[in-house]
Amino acid sequence: MLEQQRRWILYLACFLLPYSATQAASEAQDQVEYREGVFHVMAWDFSQMKRMLEDESRYNAEDFQRRANRLVDMAKMLPEGFPETRPKRVKTDAKKQIWENWDDFQQKLNDIESKAGGLAEAAASGNKESVTKAFGAVGNSCKGCHDKYRKD
Ligand code: HEC
Repeated sequence: MLEQQRRWILYLACFLLPYSATQAASEAQDQVEYREGVFHVMAWDFSQMKRMLEDESRYNAEDFQRRANRLVDMAKMLPEGFPETRPKRVKTDAKKQIWENWDDFQQKLNDIESKAGGLAEAAASGNKESVTKAFGAVGNSCKGCHDKYRKD
């Protein structure tokens, strides 16, 4: 290879390598923000359903059902927010234990999806007692994962 060509390649590499590293880092950060966004939607619907259950006069079966269904959709969207390999250098509250106990974490992701599904079913049944029970199960599922896998 000509000396001049070699120098050009080195010269280009100085610019391109840091550029692609930055690209990868920002994509990893975008993925963190994606999952945080999904969690925020879940927390919003959760809080609105909680208000309805705490105050009978606020209870609106149709609105409750809509939010329970949305919780199911959001729970299904969560796995996409967690890559199988732990990204380095991202700003996140996710503990590294997630990637050390990947199978357990997957179970917790499945659990929230099935508990949200249970809530949607209970809401459809119109039985308030089973709605309250299913709502409690969803809350426990959130907490169960946070206690283990989210930084306080
Ligand atoms: C499978 C585990 C898991 C389940 C289930 C779970 N969370 Fe989380 N949650 C996390 C992790 C991990 C984070 C930290 C995300 C990050 O910062 O990357 C988090 C973060 C959050 C945040 C903060 C988002 C931010 O911007 O930092 C909220 C709000 C939240 N969760 C609400 C909920 C609610 C409400 C539920 C239940 C309906 C729930 N989560 C269920 C694991 C879970």
